[in-house]
Amino acid sequence: MPRSVLLGTGSALPATRVTNDDLAARLDTSDAWIRERTGIVARRIADASTTTADLATEAAAAALAAAGLPPQAIDLVLVATATPDLTFPATAVRVQARLGIAGGPAFDVAAVCSGFVYALGVADSMLRAGQATRALVIGAETFSRLLDWEDRSTAVLFGDGAGAVVLERRDPPEADDVRAARGLLAIRLHADGRHEGLLHVDGGPGSTGTVGKLRMAGREVFRHAVHNLASVCHEVLEETGLPIAAIDWVVPHQANLRIIEATARKLGLPMERVVVTVHEHANTSAASIPLALDAAVRDGRIREGQLCLLEAMGGGFTWGAALLRV
Ligand code: UT7
Repeated sequence: MPRSVLLGTGSALPATRVTNDDLAARLDTSDAWIRERTGIVARRIADASTTTADLATEAAAAALAAAGLPPQAIDLVLVATATPDLTFPATAVRVQARLGIAGGPAFDVAAVCSGFVYALGVADSMLRAGQATRALVIGAETFSRLLDWEDRSTAVLFGDGAGAVVLERRDPPEADDVRAARGLLAIRLHADGRHEGLLHVDGGPGSTGTVGKLRMAGREVFRHAVHNLASVCHEVLEETGLPIAAIDWVVPHQANLRIIEATARKLGLPMERVVVTVHEHANTSAASIPLALDAAVRDGRIREGQLCLLEAMGGGFTWGAALLRV
């Protein structure tokens, strides 16, 4: 059975770093509150001329360079985003054009903070079905554009950025244990639209005709997040029959350090095995997992052959997890 193997990672962050103190200068909040409740110290915010496609293209180019491949080697481009440049065409099509390629499928995946895990699942299915050979899977957001900058309960939580991976369809080597071979071993995705009211954007082209602003009942989302994340992580482990001890690294969606810690605790995983970037990136929605993955690959923590558990939960609700042998 062919599988999707990771060939390279890349990321991009806007230059402007906004600290908690910067926000406290214009909102009724404080560095102490934000750090204590979320673990966030700073976030990057895109300037007015930078779009999601700009960040996505930069991350994609870095992932291609890491993979040692030219853009022409790619025949599928997916961008997970809730902040597309335009209502259409899809941001993925713009990225494809900027990379100087054309012809293969390119489309966006809308699953908000779970978008990258969803896009991995779509890419993996298409690669294994023989519909493409090499995919760029990108999570990219300019989430700052969706924020109500008067609402302290949400404005302090998010940031902008992009991360990308290159996946290739490969036949795994003949092995006694296929789980030891590189590639995506399992992916589980879920959604439950009954909770739309707890986390949504109050506008869109088909309803208000406006972009809208993010609205969230943080405490309720928190509670659902820990429960759903722990449960979907168990599902991918059960599917592969691998024990929790086999996981080298957890690369979680970076919404809140307390959610990351509570989920790790529920799974029985020490924080030493969890990649944390929320302090510097804040919540970058679909970009957070590939940004964290790229950071840990580049600083040498995540190495070839290691087993990574990726997990995310976000608006919808949507949630999912993937087991990836790097
Ligand atoms: O990406 C996936 C989706 N998002 C998430 O996963 C986020 C999930 N939720 C969270 O991360 C947390 O619930 C928050 C960080 C949003 C909030 O933390 P909390 O411990 O759940 O606080 P809370 O909402 O219960 O609010 C506690 C207090 C409130 O005051 P009162 O009502 O107790 O007097 C808020 O008004 O903190 C107040 N507050 C703030 N104070 C200072 C809310 N935001 C701020 C702020 N600065 N920025």
